[in-house]
Amino acid sequence: MPIYHNLPLATIILAAGKSTRMKSSLPKVLHTMAGQPVIRHVIDATMPLNPMQTIVVVNTDMQPHYGTIKKEDESIDFAVQDEQLGTADAVRVGLGQCRHKDARILILYGDTPLITSKTLKGLLQVEADIALLAFERKDPTGYGRLITYKKDRIQSIIEEKDTTKSQRKITLCNSGILIISAGLLEELLQQVTPHNAAGEYYLTDIISLAHKKNKICRYVVCDENELVGINTRHQLAEVSQLFQKRKADHALENGVTLIAPETVFFSYDTKLGSDVTIHPFVTFGPNVEIGNSTTIHSFSHIEGAKIGNHCNIGPFARLRPDTVIAAEAKIGNFVEIKKSTIGKGSKVNHLTYIGDAELKENVNIGAGVVTCNYDGYKKHKTAIGNNVFVGSNSSLIAPIVVGDNSIIGAGSTILEDIQENAMALSKVKQTNIENGATQYKNKQKK
Ligand code: UD1
Ligand code: MG
Repeated sequence: MPIYHNLPLATIILAAGKSTRMKSSLPKVLHTMAGQPVIRHVIDATMPLNPMQTIVVVNTDMQPHYGTIKKEDESIDFAVQDEQLGTADAVRVGLGQCRHKDARILILYGDTPLITSKTLKGLLQVEADIALLAFERKDPTGYGRLITYKKDRIQSIIEEKDTTKSQRKITLCNSGILIISAGLLEELLQQVTPHNAAGEYYLTDIISLAHKKNKICRYVVCDENELVGINTRHQLAEVSQLFQKRKADHALENGVTLIAPETVFFSYDTKLGSDVTIHPFVTFGPNVEIGNSTTIHSFSHIEGAKIGNHCNIGPFARLRPDTVIAAEAKIGNFVEIKKSTIGKGSKVNHLTYIGDAELKENVNIGAGVVTCNYDGYKKHKTAIGNNVFVGSNSSLIAPIVVGDNSIIGAGSTILEDIQENAMALSKVKQTNIENGATQYKNKQKK
């Protein structure tokens, strides 16, 4: 029996399909799941296997999205399948880009994003000419069915459209994920024909072709939850839900309290410290890191933010990208913070917008304060020193520098820098007109 374990690994990820069942102008593999495109989840699962090359097979419309798929990964190449003639044709196009002719090829479908590195590593250990991941599904509708023999051998895969009535009852399904040597793959692909109900070149046909050549095709069964494919929006929702459950379980197992786990939406990369508490209905966008013993209250929306230890965030807080919140800070309700640093122990408790600002330690921002960072053309910075007290309903018109230990009186409009220890007041002196109200009302009545 061949042992290919010493060969270099390359992956081919199929993503050129037309996504007709999604009814979308966007290819299905580019739909977002937990903060990143579906296909990127697949790529991420293969990265711990250290492939020498990753080839993503795309269609001609996908060129504008190369950057989103690639991120910073130089090992990713694109192969363009001009016409969607089927999965075997897509693999043939991908294989044409492979730089390692003696490689083992791991084939994955870009629409199956729940696959884990652990399962893939297990598949790489199977000794066979072709090793394939399979799964049992109560309702196997839409999936290719495995025709097996002996304990773990596959004779062929029959696509749903080509099944007989009795084959349709088979619940052992094809995941689409398999490993094979480049040489054998090339040889088998040349023999695939489109003689089937869909008139497509099916990759799944390589199994029966290999079997006829006395090659050994083995399957391993893996948890169906890792192999649900996305062909419809229903399946996108199903897969997203499974992914969220996985993230929530991981958080709970690692010292995070989730008061109502099913109401919290994580991003693929959310990092939570220990003894973090998350109240119901919190949404995380990409790139969030939260320190230990911090509490996030309900209805907060957090993305691109780094939050320190022992902080209190929300309820109803919105933290936008490039926000850094140091330890023991408090961000209260209806507060929006963008591209700003909030120093240790500082408090921004109510109804406030802080944008393009740097707040040092122990700053107290009163209710309704606004950093006016935009003049209609450019963004400007606000710098607030240590121990500054900003009275409620003040507007700080950036660029502005507020010195340490200064106080800004409530209702001020701050246009000029404030020195250390100063008190800034910009209110117009108040006049109380005796009986003014009565005179005004009488005038109105006339
Ligand atoms: C495929 C399998 C089926 C398996 C199921 C698992 C075949 C023939 N069928 O069916 O046995 O149970 O996946 O989810 O392989 N693609 C291309 N070019 C093409 C056609 C498809 O790149 O010409 C890509 C798609 O973008 C997708 C993947 O290949 O990422 C699978 O294609 P899809 O149409 O979703 O196949 P299924 O009907 O799901
Ligand atoms: Mg599919």
